[in-house]
This record gives sequence, structure tokens and C-alpha cells, in this order.
Amino acid sequence: MTSLDDTVALVTGASSGIGQATARALAEQGATVALVARRAERLADLGAEIAAAGGTALPIEADVSEREQAEAAVARAVEELGRLDLLVNNAGVMLLGPIADAPVEEWEQMVEVNLLGLMYTARAAIPHLLEAAAREPRRVADLVNVSSVAGRIARKGSGVYNATKFGVGAFSESLRQELTRRHVRTSLVEPGAVATELQGHNRPEVRDQIERRFEEMEILQAEDIADAIVYTVTRPRHVAVNEILVRPTEQEQ
Ligand SMILES: NC(=O)c1ccc[n+]([C@@H]2O[C@H](COP(=O)([O-])OP(=O)(O)OC[C@H]3O[C@@H](n4cnc5c(N)ncnc54)[C@H](OP(=O)(O)O)[C@@H]3O)[C@@H](O)[C@H]2O)c1
Repeated sequence: MTSLDDTVALVTGASSGIGQATARALAEQGATVALVARRAERLADLGAEIAAAGGTALPIEADVSEREQAEAAVARAVEELGRLDLLVNNAGVMLLGPIADAPVEEWEQMVEVNLLGLMYTARAAIPHLLEAAAREPRRVADLVNVSSVAGRIARKGSGVYNATKFGVGAFSESLRQELTRRHVRTSLVEPGAVATELQGHNRPEVRDQIERRFEEMEILQAEDIADAIVYTVTRPRHVAVNEILVRPTEQEQ
């Protein structure tokens, strides 16, 4: 395992769930972590917790679906922390239900956060990742995009979420090919069901259906995915983990 001492990471969606667990885990490996999301209070609490454990964190309030805010968040992290070695593009929303008669605002939000927000943040980060990849201590940089099993298998009732996550997969693979010779590793992480706030934003009838699907199952914890992300970004310089799919053992699809 390669240490993350003297590196800087930026995690989007760090105010809860997978992003929060990942920010903690990267800080434990020695990275200074910029924490990005809309809920500033949650970020401040996490920042204080990381500091109390001996780490360094910078909370940055931003809505990544607004291009200027995504760009400003990356710029502020680099300005205040001096560099950017790792980006974890994790912020996302999952608003499920049938396509016919769906509230179109839900589709717009998913496309704006899961796809455009991820792309804006990646674009803003790339010059800094390239710079970090040419420097000590690691001479490699990491861009991790959080997709989903839903980015590999489409299901009835999650068409637009599927479309955004399939899109994340395509974007990631193209970007991987573009940057890999310059030692920026682009990785795709695809979780199965994880116990987070994600499903809580759905309409009640949709939420009930999601809960029924997983009620008998021991699903993943956010830390399980943070663990996969830490594994991915701590490989030696010549090893790129391109894609990692993690399901609860009992999840069939
Ligand atoms: N939980 C699962 O079963 C599961 C499975 C597969 C993939 N995933 C993926 O994992 C990622 C993280 O989800 P999670 O499960 O950890 O859910 P979560 O607990 O709801 O976390 C989502 C995070 O995204 C942030 N976010 C949402 N909209 C944002 C915006 N416009 N700008 C900035 N941040 C925004 C939220 O922060 P604020 O609300 O404070 O902005 C929150 O920190 C998502 O991409 C999701 O699709 C989750």
C-alpha cells in the first residue's frame, strides 16, 4: 500500500454516506481532504472530526451541478491546500420510478448532479491532477468516479438513474484512455446496495419499493466502499485499478 502522506484529495458528496466515509478513510491514510457538498454544517462537523483525529480537512460548500461552483470548489482547494492529487467524484442522487409520467425535475436533477456535476468537477481538476502526477511524493494521481451496479445493469423503474450511471462509465473510460499515459489513473467504482441517505430522497411510494427489495438482505456499509476506494488509490504507481464492482454478498442483480 502506498501512503497518501503529503497529498491532497477532494471528495464531492462528503456530507454523508460513501463520500463521508471515504473522506475519513483518505485522511487516515495521510491525505489532506477538501470536503465538498451543499450542507455546510455537516462538512464542518466532519472537518472537526478529522482534525481531532490528527488529520487536516477543508470544508467547501458547493453545489456541483452549478459549473461555476464546481470550478470554484476545485480552485479553492488548490489555492488553500497547494495541490490536488486525488479527486473522488462521488456526489449523486437516485430518484427512481417508472419513466412514463415521471416528474421531469427528478431527471434534470440526476443528469445535472450525477453526470454534468461529475464532468464539471473532473474538468476543473484535470490540470491539477496532471501537475501532481509529475511531482513527488507519488508521481501518479487519481480520479475516481463513483458509478453503481446501475451503471452496468438497467432495471425497470430506474431508467434515468441507469442512463446517468451508464454515462459515468462511458465518460470514465474515455477519460482513462486520455490521461493514463500521463499517470493520472481514472477509476470507476460501482457499488451495489449501501446503507446511506440515498434512497430517502425518493417519493414515498418509490421509497417503499426500494426498501422491500433489500429488506431481507445484509447490505453494504459506506465504509465498505470507502475501503474499495482506498485500495484503488493506494496501489503502486505502475498499477491502475480501472474498475471495481462491489455488491452485498446476497445481492443477485
Ligand atoms: N447507496 C447506494 O446504495 C449506492 C449504490 C450505488 C451507487 N451509489 C452512489 O454513491 C454516491 C454517493 O451516494 P450515497 O449512497 O453515499 O448517498 P448519500 O448519503 O445521499 O450521499 C450523497 C452525497 O451527494 C451530495 N450531493 C447531492 N447533490 C449534490 C450537489 N448538487 N452538489 C454537491 N453535492 C451533492 C450530498 O450532499 P448535500 O446534500 O449536502 O449536497 C451527499 O453528500 C452517489 O453517486 C450514488 O449514486 C450509491
